[in-house]
Amino acid sequence: MDNSAEIQNSSTKGVFINTYGCQMNVNDTERMFSLLEMLNYQSVPSPEQASLIIINSCSVREKPVHKVHSEVGRYRLLKEKNPALRIGVAGCVAQQEKKRLLKDIPVLDFVFGPDNIDQLPEIVGDLYKSEDSLMKAKFQHGEGYHVETMIRNPGVSTFVNITKGCDNFCSFCVVPFTRGRERSRPLTELIKDIQSLTKRGVREVTLLGQNVNSYKSDCGTNFGGLLRAVAEDTDVERIRYTTSHPKDFDQELVDISQQYRSKICDYIHLPVQSGNSEVLERMNRGYSREEYLDKVRMIKDTIPGVALSTDIIVGFPGETREQYEDTASLLEEVKYESIYAFKYSPRPFTKAARWPDQITDEEKSDRLNRLFELQKRISGELSQKYLGQVKEVLVENFDEKKGNNNGRTTENKLTHFPGRKDLVGQLIKVKITKALPTILHGEII
Ligand code: 5AD
Ligand code: SF4
Repeated sequence: MDNSAEIQNSSTKGVFINTYGCQMNVNDTERMFSLLEMLNYQSVPSPEQASLIIINSCSVREKPVHKVHSEVGRYRLLKEKNPALRIGVAGCVAQQEKKRLLKDIPVLDFVFGPDNIDQLPEIVGDLYKSEDSLMKAKFQHGEGYHVETMIRNPGVSTFVNITKGCDNFCSFCVVPFTRGRERSRPLTELIKDIQSLTKRGVREVTLLGQNVNSYKSDCGTNFGGLLRAVAEDTDVERIRYTTSHPKDFDQELVDISQQYRSKICDYIHLPVQSGNSEVLERMNRGYSREEYLDKVRMIKDTIPGVALSTDIIVGFPGETREQYEDTASLLEEVKYESIYAFKYSPRPFTKAARWPDQITDEEKSDRLNRLFELQKRISGELSQKYLGQVKEVLVENFDEKKGNNNGRTTENKLTHFPGRKDLVGQLIKVKITKALPTILHGEII
């Protein structure tokens, strides 16, 4: 018996969304929740309570299609018990696999790509009209990039999409194929969006894009101009942005960050990927080790005390032990506060996946573990400089059980301290009393 009509008519329905991958996906999930709220769907904490399940997938690294198959497999029993349950796959695996997913996983009801999120209400409406599975994975290439930040509960700190897609085609990366060509949101729309978020209590925004530095508004404003406009024309108190591409990070941007330092945070995520120039060339990154180090010097000279983090890939095809050692020595030289390091994983459509000299998994694991060990020491040493300092922390949460608040310093350091619930949302001065590699502890002064 199909009781979909009953489900549709009940006043509220449950939706469960499981999100994988980057901040872009986390934000996309929030947009899905907001759109579904208009159809009377409410977020539920477990798939058992849901009448709609969406897997917001990521295909950047490691066995993504396999993960989708096994997760949907776990929901098969639920669907047997409740035939009105609808299950869909969103995100980059959806874009990459399209119809193949529907063919290989018959229990799936729908598949839609990152460019089709705004059509979700229509897609969900159609699900109950026929038994056919639905597939929407068309890039909206010709159109401008307009999205509403209809975030349900934006909290104190929230993400704001400024660009989508990527035109860089790094030889290891699937993103240009799953997220399409780069597009920027109009400046006026962004400013309006951020203003409305601050009215709802947001005090910090993170401007989000695959390559934020190449932002270009329809009126010609570049990323520096956008930062200036957000700092001057909105009430937001803290501005972060991610991800920056080293090749597009220039002096103008560093100068603007310095000029608006009271608002633009002292933290830059600048993915290097490798410390060896030959590997960088084969990765198609558009800079050498020396050019990258020049940019780091420029940033540190202009913004003393700035915190840096990076992304690294170990075991890229053909990477020799010596070339890997160049990455390790770069960590020693730059002294990042934190790193995100990954084993290279071949991705469909990408150039590097077709190269013959792939590195064994054992070797990749060994290189990764050694890098993490090295970084743990560096992070631990760097962290000591915060000891005894008074830092301004934007309080994001209160843990009732422990009686602790937590939030972040301008350098993006997670900081815990004994506090109160009513401090959430405030900028509080905290004296640092204990400095671990990834967390600071302190007390309110
Ligand atoms: N294998 C491993 N890591 C990858 N990344 C992107 N593609 C791959 C891949 N094929 C990493 C990069 C990027 C981060 C988001 O994911 O370091 O900066
Ligand atoms: Fe991928 Fe390179 Fe684009 Fe980043 S810049 S999304 S790594 S292709």
